[in-house]
Amino acid sequence: MADPTLTNAALDPAALPPTFHLSRHPAVLHKLALLRDVRTEPKKFRELVREISWLVGYEALADARLRPLKVRTPLEETDGAELADRIGLVPILRAGLGMVDAMLELMPTAQVWHLGLFRDERTLRPVEYYNKLPDSATVDLSLILDPMLATGGSATAAIEVLKRWGAARIKLINLIAAPEGVAAVTSAHPDVHIHSAALDRQLNERGYILPGLGDAGDRQFGTGVGD
Ligand code: PRP
Ligand code: URA
Repeated sequence: MADPTLTNAALDPAALPPTFHLSRHPAVLHKLALLRDVRTEPKKFRELVREISWLVGYEALADARLRPLKVRTPLEETDGAELADRIGLVPILRAGLGMVDAMLELMPTAQVWHLGLFRDERTLRPVEYYNKLPDSATVDLSLILDPMLATGGSATAAIEVLKRWGAARIKLINLIAAPEGVAAVTSAHPDVHIHSAALDRQLNERGYILPGLGDAGDRQFGTGVGD
């Protein structure tokens, strides 16, 4: 049977870069089909973005560092663990905003640093419009949140901002990735691990992911009706 996480039957999962991690969880695949569906309204779409983000984020955080801790149960003292990594969530505005709550449920102590980037529709190049990062990095592990990895321009720009900031370990969390975006990020930043719910077939001539889900920002926020 064809691998339902891949919409490109020609893609050999074994040929994917080792830093690219595709979720294969049945709950992710079920929700992803609903997310893609053109009939899914913004309210349901936002719920699905949140639910899939939680599941993909859970997988991406599997190697977060712990330190040992003693904990007293009502009966006795035992060994426990607490998170040692200071986690930074970096949602890319706008569409990454819908992923933040789910990640904060997983990691309630995470810092949230918003980055405003939009893609110039003509050049497909990212334009930065909001960045309030302090002078030096305040986290050990940064998770960039953006539902869509298309050309990879926005993700690459975000990674560059974080590296200039001094971020040591960076992961990119997406819901849908295009092969072009995975290749661009992997070649510019081979140290950055990418976690995604799907790897789609290709980009169209306007830089949209096929089959994709359309414009992730517009579908979450009910905009783009006049386009
Ligand atoms: C979308 C998406 C990514 C970017 C991906 O944002 O959320 O940030 O495009 O495309 P790329 O990989 O080719 O850079 P968009 O620019 O539409 O902004 P928005 O979230 O404000 O709608
Ligand atoms: N941004 C989106 O929101 N969707 C795409 O398919 C590509 C970039």
